Amino acid sequence: MNKAIYLDNSATTKPLQEVMQTFMAVNEQYYANPASIHAMGVEANDLLMRAREQVADILQAESKNVLFTSGGTESNNAAIFGVARSNTHIGKHILTSEIEHPSVLEAMKQLEKEGFEIEYLHIDKRGVISLEELRAKIRKDTILVSIMHVNNEMGAIQPIFDAGSIIHEMSRAVFHVDVVQSFGKLAVFFKGENGPDCLSISGHKIHGLKGSGVLAFRKPMRWQPYVVGGGQEFGLRSGTVAVPQAVALAKAARLAVEIMEERTKKYRQWQADICAQLQSYGEAVHILSNLQGAAHILSFSVRDLTGEIIINAMQKQGIIVSTSSACSSKQTKTSHVVEALHLEEHYKKGVIRISFGAHNTNEDIKKFKQVLAKVMMELKGEIDK
Ligand SMILES: Cc1ncc(COP(=O)(O)O)c(C=O)c1O
Repeated sequence: MNKAIYLDNSATTKPLQEVMQTFMAVNEQYYANPASIHAMGVEANDLLMRAREQVADILQAESKNVLFTSGGTESNNAAIFGVARSNTHIGKHILTSEIEHPSVLEAMKQLEKEGFEIEYLHIDKRGVISLEELRAKIRKDTILVSIMHVNNEMGAIQPIFDAGSIIHEMSRAVFHVDVVQSFGKLAVFFKGENGPDCLSISGHKIHGLKGSGVLAFRKPMRWQPYVVGGGQEFGLRSGTVAVPQAVALAKAARLAVEIMEERTKKYRQWQADICAQLQSYGEAVHILSNLQGAAHILSFSVRDLTGEIIINAMQKQGIIVSTSSACSSKQTKTSHVVEALHLEEHYKKGVIRISFGAHNTNEDIKKFKQVLAKVMMELKGEIDK
């Protein structure tokens, strides 16, 4: 499948050559333990600190509040468990949305078993939470609000800065935002007192490496260590720090942000082109994404078909797309995001997500559109049944 056109960049991305070169070079030359006090350790630590500062600069954070992790799942788990369990003296009430990534929702289920009270914010037809509902549900004893910036299945953008103002005005809650799908695609940063308090980033979604991530804080907060041992990463996450991963992530982050505008323009054009074609199929297709959402994700459903049939038909023509998310693609039940959208029954099973990345070209999109037309023609009998 090496020549395939890969349009599943929300599941993961191909690392950029520059990022891999950085990773290899750091492994070759700076392999010493950054905690060692000899010269080679000091050099490795300097590199690690520089990577931390680069990420901090992008986020408008202080480098002492940037923690390197193994990815988005770890960052989300660490933020949620860490904040919840360290703030029970204020309360046990937590708010999140019904369309979060499983690394958030499963953590919430765990906390529920521990006696925390979790409430879920609903979404509208565009996949966006209601600020009125947030205002109505937030309480003096709310200790954590966790809302994703961009939804991984349909690309809806949540109003995180407006949400942040409400949260900080009405409570002492920590505001955690999963920016795994928005970092490098939208402006993501700590915005004074009113924005997020805590952000989760994943390296492999931004043409970096799998097994790398960041958890960043606006300011130091009450928090327990979650991996104990040698006291690395400010005592919160022990274990020898993976310097090559950290430096590669900083590089991927810098590159993503540098060409963000240019890429977004291109992705938006592709999204609009494909949407126009999808609209020409009338009722046979329902488009879940909208042009106010993230530009790199386009999700749609074909009536009365399963996502698997469409994926296989496209794969035969050399196009790699996904069902609503990589996590739900192997499960037969409808994804929680599709359920939350209250789609009509005949659109629930045939959801397809295409997601663009740095390696895609205009030619790829042209080919995708041709294959889409062919597949829709081939499956017409099934759709009209
Ligand atoms: C919104 C969102 N959050 C978290 C994650 C988990 O990130 P990772 O794969 O780095 O653990 C993903 C991955 O799909 C995601 O899309």
